[in-house]
Amino acid sequence: VWDYLEGGADEESTLTANRAAFQQWTFQPRTLIDVEHIDLSTNICGSTAPFPAVLAPTGYTRMFHPDGELAVAAAADAAGLPYAVSTVGTASITDVANVMTLAPWLQLYLCRDRGLSWELLARAWDAGVRTLEFSTDTAVSGHRIRDRKRGFAIPPSLGIREIGEIGLRPRYWTNMVTSAPLTFANLQSAEGQSIQEITSQFESRLSWSTIAEIKEHWPGVLLLKGPVSPADAVTAANLGINGFHLTNHGGRQLDRCIPAIELVHPIRQALPSTTIIVDGGIRHGMDIAVAIALGADAASFGRPYLYGLAAGGQSGVGLILRLLREEYQRTLQLLGCQSTSYLRTNGSEFLCRLNAES
Ligand SMILES: Cc1cc2nc3c(=O)[nH]c(=O)nc-3n(C[C@H](O)[C@H](O)[C@H](O)COP(=O)(O)O)c2cc1C
Repeated sequence: VWDYLEGGADEESTLTANRAAFQQWTFQPRTLIDVEHIDLSTNICGSTAPFPAVLAPTGYTRMFHPDGELAVAAAADAAGLPYAVSTVGTASITDVANVMTLAPWLQLYLCRDRGLSWELLARAWDAGVRTLEFSTDTAVSGHRIRDRKRGFAIPPSLGIREIGEIGLRPRYWTNMVTSAPLTFANLQSAEGQSIQEITSQFESRLSWSTIAEIKEHWPGVLLLKGPVSPADAVTAANLGINGFHLTNHGGRQLDRCIPAIELVHPIRQALPSTTIIVDGGIRHGMDIAVAIALGADAASFGRPYLYGLAAGGQSGVGLILRLLREEYQRTLQLLGCQSTSYLRTNGSEFLCRLNAES
């Protein structure tokens, strides 16, 4: 379970590069600015958030803690932040919406049997969802060597090694066997419920015409989630895409993929008013500040809140969100920056690339 959460694809080069891409940025603070009261808030896809952060969609979340998506949703709601629920979530979008006052977002893996996907979109709309993230980076599953070495399967299969590890983690396994069985709650009517059976039903023949197909069934905000290039972003915007969740799937799909943070500035230059959310390697409020200074509207993250969930359920997620907010606030104060909106529009004042030639 740990290797599934933590691991990346192939050589895990992208996983490492995602962190390094943030660490190459240094800050140039401004001097003598009153930062006693600063405004961290921002607008993300039409709603105000107390700071510029979005909880990224992660599949099979109940494997990390029996309260899974419902705990993440409640913590995100208490923090006032958007939470995108995965197509392969282990709680249904309706149940998630019921524990939130804010509307959750939905992430879409399009199914070959379109009826399954359109039914999911209709249920999400009825539950109040208005923002959809369409994943474009998963034509086939990434090759995760840790999962292969471990014989990792969903639902978990038990070999001798796993049975040995159960002895070392009795509380985890007691929680797992005494809670409701893990299912793909958003795809209950799909044939089969193993990860292989579910992913084999996802559409691998995606094309630009898929956008029009989805828009026929989705009247709300539509974001592309993937490592979208600046040229592709312009094409997508011309087809009515409202914005981008730039990502390389946390290094879990194409290894040696460009870190998504590198795409923020060129896409912002090409599309000054599109929505840009970016993830991959965000581990500290300083990373959120770098993302905003480069032109993103919000930063997103997956593993950080999963660490909190695995360690402490809803309160663990809540603690991670509070730490990120405090770190982001402290970073802006030490930068001499009075608001997220100032950082978003004047970011170049504050950033220097380490070892840059010019
Ligand atoms: C355990 C795990 C499961 C994930 N499942 C999904 C998923 O179902 N759908 C999706 O679009 N992205 C999925 N992602 C990718 C995240 O949405 C996000 O892009 C990534 O976690 C960001 O990188 P970070 O973990 O370094 O913050 C998953 C990531 C992790 C770690």
